[in-house]
Amino acid sequence: MNSTKKLLADLWEPTRVRQMAHEFADIAADELVIRAAAVRGPGLSKRAQVLVKAGGRVKSPVALARRVQRESLHLSHPRFLAQQVAAPIPAAALVESVVAAMNQSLAVWEMSPIATAIDRDLLARFKALFGYPTSSEGSLVPGGAFANLTALLVARNILDKGAHRTGRTRVAILCGEQTHYSVARAARILGFGSDAVFQVAPDRWFGTDAAAVKSGIAKAKKAGFRKFVVVGSAGSTPTGSFDDLMELRRVATAEKAWLHVDAAHGGGLMFSRRYRRCLRGIHLADSIAFDPHKMMFMPLTAGCVLIRRGADLRGSLAEQASYLFGSKRAWPDIGQVTIGCSQRFDALKVWLVWRAYGAKVWDGLTTHVCELAETAYRHCLSSTVLEPMHRPDSNIFCFQLRGRRNDAHSDRLHWKLKEALNESGFGYVSSTVLGGRRVLRLVIMNPRTTWSDIRAVLDWIARRAR
Ligand SMILES: Cc1ncc(COP(=O)(O)O)c(C=O)c1O
Repeated sequence: MNSTKKLLADLWEPTRVRQMAHEFADIAADELVIRAAAVRGPGLSKRAQVLVKAGGRVKSPVALARRVQRESLHLSHPRFLAQQVAAPIPAAALVESVVAAMNQSLAVWEMSPIATAIDRDLLARFKALFGYPTSSEGSLVPGGAFANLTALLVARNILDKGAHRTGRTRVAILCGEQTHYSVARAARILGFGSDAVFQVAPDRWFGTDAAAVKSGIAKAKKAGFRKFVVVGSAGSTPTGSFDDLMELRRVATAEKAWLHVDAAHGGGLMFSRRYRRCLRGIHLADSIAFDPHKMMFMPLTAGCVLIRRGADLRGSLAEQASYLFGSKRAWPDIGQVTIGCSQRFDALKVWLVWRAYGAKVWDGLTTHVCELAETAYRHCLSSTVLEPMHRPDSNIFCFQLRGRRNDAHSDRLHWKLKEALNESGFGYVSSTVLGGRRVLRLVIMNPRTTWSDIRAVLDWIARRAR
């Protein structure tokens, strides 16, 4: 047998492929429903080295994948409470191998006739969810950072007509101190420059203070800026706080500014009958960043950007490429409304869950994780050891040790507590800095997490702190 024939027999032999599909699916299923004793095993960094350095050929990709899964940090474990990465809805995670196998590229309709229709149907659902008109435009993107980049590109081009040509601009960006770092990075990439980013102090609930934004604009004017983008967070990364979007709209309108709302984290709360009030006024934003891979419990990646006036997005991204983009058709080439060229069929997992289970699935799941954060808050209110930093708006909650000193020693203590818990594998939390002091942070992204899981982690921290 020549070597190509042998390769084909090895890699594409139908019975083997089918068997491998089942075996990989079994590994995925084990991870999705994991409830092991520990979120992680001990000595992970050493183990990682052993794993990648182990020489020799591996006989089976399945066995290797099994080892990687077993030894990894289990983000789907109910006591993983650290960061904004979801424990994915099983159907959405499991269909990923179908997405990869079909390998549709949505850059052009020609390569993805059915996928394009599904993608556009999903976008229409998102527009309706946020109260945007059908004439708005958007695309799926790899995440919130790309969504912010896209939105700021369009804002720049609309506010400063010359920027499209020169790549430089004189537009200021006003945002809160808690705004995700991707906004400042986008400003540097897009030629705004870091001097054009005016970060304002948060209000006492860690949201963006609209009055401070007004003062920020005055400061920017003194520095010579005449055009502005106001960025609101819904919710913010450190505390999950929601800005008053109606108020930010008023401030932005008074200055003829573009209002961008980064709802990468909290956009999913639109599904929650109880929590959607947090996003009041989002339909008035000029652009929205939103991550289904956060509060819609999708596996990475699924981000989305929406631009209220669709023509603004199309004008910013339209390209000539005769080898790809064709004559006018009933369906668009998605490559003309998104930064990427190869565009993964990420829409399928989201659309499938929506079609199969209905939007109510997200009402239940988002409400549940937010209510858990509220319960954690009430627990800390009455704890003699732990003290809440804020009443949570959503599923992110920060707390500290009561009676702590306001010094670096106490900061280190909080850091060490987090490290000790995470090393133990019993639970996993994160930390952040609020008001200049390091505090502990819970992010509840797993609908299978129960109050007893969180209680056990808080008790562990309180015991260790004593
Ligand atoms: C508010 C906010 N915006 C943007 C991002 C970046 O999103 P991604 O990681 O999907 O690029 C995050 C990530 O945590 C976020 O919390």
